[in-house]
Parts: sequence; structure tokens; C-alpha cells
Amino acid sequence: MSLAGLRVVVSAGPTYEDLDPVRFIGNRSSGKMGFAVAAAAARRGARTVLIAGPVHLPTPDGVERIDVRSAAQMHDAVLRALPADVYVGAAAVADFTPENIASSKIKKTAGQDALVLRLVRTPDILADVARDARRPRCVVGFAAETDDVAHYARGKLEKKNIDMIAANRVGVAGSGFESDDNALNVYWRENNDAVGERALGPAPKTTLADALMDLIEERLHA
Ligand code: PMT
Repeated sequence: MSLAGLRVVVSAGPTYEDLDPVRFIGNRSSGKMGFAVAAAAARRGARTVLIAGPVHLPTPDGVERIDVRSAAQMHDAVLRALPADVYVGAAAVADFTPENIASSKIKKTAGQDALVLRLVRTPDILADVARDARRPRCVVGFAAETDDVAHYARGKLEKKNIDMIAANRVGVAGSGFESDDNALNVYWRENNDAVGERALGPAPKTTLADALMDLIEERLHA
């Protein structure tokens, strides 16, 4: 029970950004990675809160689950779940959302050959957690990248002012979205501001979640 007495908040799954009562913009996240992280934290005795986007997964044992749909709802739920000792942002949060949600189904009209949607930025949950007055001691992000994984992941570690980032390659079979397996390149800030690095996997997401919790515990004790 190495995390007994600590509170861990995890986000998982996609967000759905509604366009009208029947359509939304979503992504391919299944929630498996984030649910595995929440399960690993709960097994170690942490009071664990899981903020879940729309997924079809059972709630892990010992985890308090809060279901949300949109990036704005996930932002509110995560911030409401603070204070915490650890935040792990494994959710694939939409970066943009429709500026307006139509109250009726959007209709095509005769002769119309295009539909222009105006999207606006969503709040950055991870960055807001990291700048909150109740900032957790360890703020962990994920980075989903198709190219130049290390470069973009290290950039996010700096830009979002977080303590650790777990990067995974998406768009390839056997890792990232939907798959039961994954491979992570984890980067963290050392106390002297150097950047530590560890490659985890390929392995089942459940195994990787435990290995990531080991690294988080090391940082909590550093
Ligand atoms: O759910 P699975 O099917 O198991 O797939 C797992 C996964 C690929 C979704 C997961 O491993 C993963 O990489 N999650 C992060 C996906 C993502 O949105 O990455 P990003 O590089 O766009 O975002 C970087 C970080 O900022 C993430 O921690 C994200 O949660 C966070 N973010 C992004 C946008 C936003 N508005 N708010 C955020 O908090």
C-alpha cells in the first residue's frame, strides 16, 4: 500500500465536442491507458478519482469515477477534484470545440457543396492543473505523437510546466489508441532541472501503468 493516504486524480478517454443534437467531434481514445493508471493507483492504496470521457469500460475496483463528455466538462471535473497529490492526464482532450452548438440538426441545402465550421480553443486542463494554487506535487501528462515523439514530448514538459510526461506513438498498430498494448517514453524533471528518461514496453497497458506508477512514486520521494 505504497500510496496509502495520498489522493490521485486521473483523466482518461476521449472528449466529445457536440456540433448539434446528433453529431460531435471525437477521437479514437478507448480509455484503456487511463483506466489502467487509475487501477494501479487504487491497488497501491491511493484514494483515486477517475474523470472519464465517453468510454465503455468498467470502473476499476476502489476507484471513484466521474463521467464527463466535453473538454469543458472534463476541465471543470478535474479542477473540482483538486487538491490531490498526483494528477495524471491520460485523456485525449479535444484541442478545439465548435464555437456554437446548433440547437437543431444541421441540414444540408440544395446546391451546398461545403460546410464551414468555426472551432475555438478548449481550456488546457493539464496546464491549468500545473498553475493552480492547489497544484499536485506530481503533475503527469501524456503526449500522443505521430512523429518526432521525444522532441514534442520534452517541449510539452517545459511549456506546460509539468513534472513528468509519458509519450506514446499513435497511428501505428500495437501502441497508442485502442490497443491493449503500448510503449512509453517517459521524461521527467530532476531536482537539478536535468531531464530523466526511461523507455517502458512494449507491454500491456496494465503493466505499463504499474511501471509508470513506480516512476511517479520515485519522483514523490525524490
Ligand atoms: O485511451 P487509449 O485508447 O488507451 O489510448 C491511450 C492514449 C493514446 C489516449 C494515451 O496514452 C495518451 O497519449 N493520452 C494523451 C492524448 C493527448 O491528447 O495527447 P496530446 O499530446 O494532444 O496532449 C498532451 C497532454 O495535454 C495530455 O496529457 C492531455 O491530456 C493534455 N491536454 C490536452 C489538451 C487539453 N485541452 N487539455 C489537456 O489537458
